[in-house]
Amino acid sequence: MKNTTTPPKIVALALLVFVGAVMLGYGVSRMSAQEPQGNPVTGGLLYDKWWTVTGADAPVGDHPLWATQSTNTRTGADTWRCKECHGWDYKGADGAYGSGSHFTGFPGILAIKGQPVADIVAALKGSTNPDHDFSAVLDGQALLDLAVFVSESLIDTAPLVNADKTATGDAARGQAFFAMCTACHGPQGNAIYFDSFEDPLVIGSLSSDNPWEFIHKARYGQPTFLAMPALYTLGLADSDVGDVLAYAQSLPGEPALSGGGLLYDKWWTVTGADAPTENHPLWATQSTNTRTGADTWRCKECHGWDYKGADGAYGSGSHFTGFPGILDATSKSSEELLAWLNGEANPDHDFSVVVDEMALDALVAFIQQEMFDISMYVNEDGTVAGDADAGRSLYAGTCARCHGADGKIYNFGSEDKPEYVGTLAVDNPWEVFHKVAVGQPGAPMPGALALGWTPQQIADVVAFAQTLPVE
Ligand code: HEC
Ligand code: HEC
Ligand code: HEC
Ligand code: HEC
Repeated sequence: MKNTTTPPKIVALALLVFVGAVMLGYGVSRMSAQEPQGNPVTGGLLYDKWWTVTGADAPVGDHPLWATQSTNTRTGADTWRCKECHGWDYKGADGAYGSGSHFTGFPGILAIKGQPVADIVAALKGSTNPDHDFSAVLDGQALLDLAVFVSESLIDTAPLVNADKTATGDAARGQAFFAMCTACHGPQGNAIYFDSFEDPLVIGSLSSDNPWEFIHKARYGQPTFLAMPALYTLGLADSDVGDVLAYAQSLPGEPALSGGGLLYDKWWTVTGADAPTENHPLWATQSTNTRTGADTWRCKECHGWDYKGADGAYGSGSHFTGFPGILDATSKSSEELLAWLNGEANPDHDFSVVVDEMALDALVAFIQQEMFDISMYVNEDGTVAGDADAGRSLYAGTCARCHGADGKIYNFGSEDKPEYVGTLAVDNPWEVFHKVAVGQPGAPMPGALALGWTPQQIADVVAFAQTLPVE
């Protein structure tokens, strides 16, 4: 089958990312044999949120300099982020943080670009102001990385961003560079959402709301997710970054999927609610599944990963409840489905007491538009009707970026009983199918449906995943 998701241009760009990263790593490690060298990309990540990068605990209490201002009412860890005082545009009070809730009056650092690294390290140790001493929380290498970031790599965003926040760049040119982003963010930049389920941001909305933050993160990467490439590493010209911004701003502002599939999996992880402690009211009407508490509130626990309840994989074994599937509900109207979810149809099946209207709507959209019959692809014995060879290249182009070629970067089990992509694909292909289709609650994993994959392509990748190491 022709693989439509990885045209040659994307492959070429992905290779470029890889080669660039290897060359940077090589260069840095070679030079470090002589004298300590700073890495501007690490510096940029530290500037964003240093404790996430160093693995330190987030600071408690306000930064000592915070008391010298009173306009920005944030407290605690936020006050320790370089960006909170100096801005995403490095212009402090002279830039985007010159008004609004982030205003502090603190100066920018753009003018420091080009200054000797040693002087900047000194300023970070308090030479210009003893309250600006970060040496208690950041080691020498981190201070050096920050200083090199400031001295060598700062960008003046003014030529790239108009006063109304729109980009000056060429969106068509930017689209070619954006091919480096689509494996994770999707062709429309909205396969992963950031911030919260209630108020989600995607590439399109973030780049429009805060073009300076977008530019910073696109150039240096994301502190919470170091597998994300940094455009600075690849030596893109400033104007190229402006073109990426222009393209990003042309993308949709809403997530590609409803998020209902994530709620179906484990709604409290998605909404941030406390996990329920009592059994679900309907649980007492069965006695075969001996789980208790929060588990009994997961849609999947009663209706199955294959949405077939007692007629599917949960028709026997420890998950058996006898409860029905919901595949037939796909054809129901939104009103009918809402009536099921808010307890009108059955007062014991009322989820409006634990999730809000937006979540109920997302569940309805999932059932109507994003749920499909997995048993067409996963056989009763757990084998998958997919082409593992086609799946291999889909896996390499997408999943391997985060899970590694062998699927072992993340361990979903415990240290004693590790579980990897391969383990899960063999043990529970229905679960893997669901998660690959819609994503993983609480984790920045793109749903394959949001990447534009067909169910058959998902089957192909799950078939390939079953060939990965299980331990
Ligand atoms: C709480 C606010 C605050 C935070 C957080 C902060 N700074 Fe500053 N920074 C200032 C202020 C105010 C100055 C102005 C001069 C001074 O007091 O040294 C300054 C000055 C600077 C200077 C210029 C020094 C010079 O030579 O004039 C640099 C460079 C700098 N900061 C970088 C950073 C970096 C990198 C971080 C993150 C590790 C950071 N700052 C975090 C408030 C802050
Ligand atoms: C290997 C996967 C991967 C690739 C490739 C990737 N990203 Fe990301 N990116 C992520 C993940 C995962 C997150 C969210 C991390 C989180 O939730 O903390 C993210 C977050 C972001 C954010 C920050 C959102 C925020 O508000 O914190 C921006 C901006 C961004 N990416 C832009 C890009 C751009 C531009 C590209 C291409 C040059 C790109 N990414 C390529 C995985 C990737
Ligand atoms: C504790 C078990 C349990 C949980 C948890 C549960 N359901 Fe149900 N669900 C049932 C039962 C039992 C029925 C059938 C009830 C009846 O006939 O009165 C049902 C019926 C439905 C129906 C109607 C099906 C049809 O074909 O008309 C839908 C839709 C549905 N559930 C969706 C969900 C969603 C979405 C969730 C998660 C938010 C969920 N359910 C959680 C047990 C559960
Ligand atoms: C942008 C990064 C990213 C991409 C791309 C990605 N994943 Fe994930 N995936 C994650 C993260 C993060 C988790 C959660 C890890 C954890 O819980 O420790 C996860 C979880 C999973 C799980 C669920 C494990 C569980 O706990 O039940 C499976 C299965 C999985 N991924 C398979 C895949 C497959 C197959 C692909 C390709 C179609 C893929 N992932 C693409 C980041 C990604």
